[in-house]
Amino acid sequence: MIVGNGTEKLDLVALRRDFPALDQEVAGKPLVYLDNAATAQTPRQVIDAMERFYREDCANVHRGVHELSQRATEAYEAARCQVQEFIGASEVGEIIYTRGATDSLNLVAHSLGELKVDSGDEVVISAMEHHSNIVPWQLMCERRGAKLRVIPINDSGELLLDEFDRMLNDRTRIISVAHVSNALGTINPVREIIARAHELDIPVVLDGAQAIPHMHVNVQDLNCDFYVFSGHKMFGPTGIGILYGKRTFLEQMPPYQSGGDMIESVTFEKTTFNDLPYKFEAGTPNIAAAIGLGAAVEYLSKVGMDCIESYERELLDYATKAIGSIDDVKLIGVAREKAGVISFVIEGIHPHDIGTILDREGVAVRGGHHCAQPVMDYFKVSATTRASFAFYNTRQEVDELVFAIGKVKELFSD
Ligand code: ALA
Repeated sequence: MIVGNGTEKLDLVALRRDFPALDQEVAGKPLVYLDNAATAQTPRQVIDAMERFYREDCANVHRGVHELSQRATEAYEAARCQVQEFIGASEVGEIIYTRGATDSLNLVAHSLGELKVDSGDEVVISAMEHHSNIVPWQLMCERRGAKLRVIPINDSGELLLDEFDRMLNDRTRIISVAHVSNALGTINPVREIIARAHELDIPVVLDGAQAIPHMHVNVQDLNCDFYVFSGHKMFGPTGIGILYGKRTFLEQMPPYQSGGDMIESVTFEKTTFNDLPYKFEAGTPNIAAAIGLGAAVEYLSKVGMDCIESYERELLDYATKAIGSIDDVKLIGVAREKAGVISFVIEGIHPHDIGTILDREGVAVRGGHHCAQPVMDYFKVSATTRASFAFYNTRQEVDELVFAIGKVKELFSD
């Protein structure tokens, strides 16, 4: 790997060597992996860290005085500190391990909902959320007798902030929006949303799953109240994610799941709960994945998020021009501020067929509704084809995608 400080260019040849899965052929052609928004590839540094745990330190955490348990606990807690530093949280107690962004959103919807939402109250999300940032709020609102309100979007795939402003009132209890949309790539104006919400004392949850692999995120600087993300979209393992929350909220929120480690003491009459962050971490956690996430964060920090951001901005511009200028291709989501994603449709060809033919050309993309059916409804399409980028993708790979789209069109022109 090469190390960046935010000003120099990425050494893509060296970086790509860190990702073993990129170095393979699919259908006899070099793999072009453009499904990073679903799951990004894993560098050997992450794989090695997890393997080391299983080879040398495999034991439970917070439960044993023996050497292996001590080492496992140390590595597990060190990873939490790395995450804290990576996102600029003020203290490690605010970093809760979960199974992923979906799990984090379920936790916060359930627990913050119980704390703050009553019958007649309102919760605000946006029209570009994926299902994980819709359904947990919908279910919580049903349970509490509250109303779910939705910030509309325009044809470019941008939030209508005036409508958002009009929506806020003295019954608004929580706002939860994507930092970056998984289906459209829109970067939302979260600072404005947070500033407006805080004027009315409304906490803001940011779904950062699609933002954190692409840009420098500092939760204190953003001043969000909660921030969630998944390990596997940021070059870490599956089955691990983070809920960042401000201590003031986390302390007041009731536990979500219960069991071992989240307790202080248990009798049949009464249970008292552990301190943060353990109050929200019931049962044996995914220790290896947490350690892998720490390694991913260390890797990204060495490459440099500022370098990644500026490289990807250029790559996305290049890809947008190249794909957007293919005849019959319509881009879905053309916001002024975007990261990582190009969604498109081709009149008369289903995205699943496009995805299958691209796969035969060695190009991996996602075709479908991207777990964001309301976005598809808004744009009056059942699905899109989505190419999603990571810092290891190249202009040459964009050219391969364009070439493969040409093949799709050729096949369907008969
Ligand atoms: N949310 C993931 C995606 O956008 C699975 O593909």
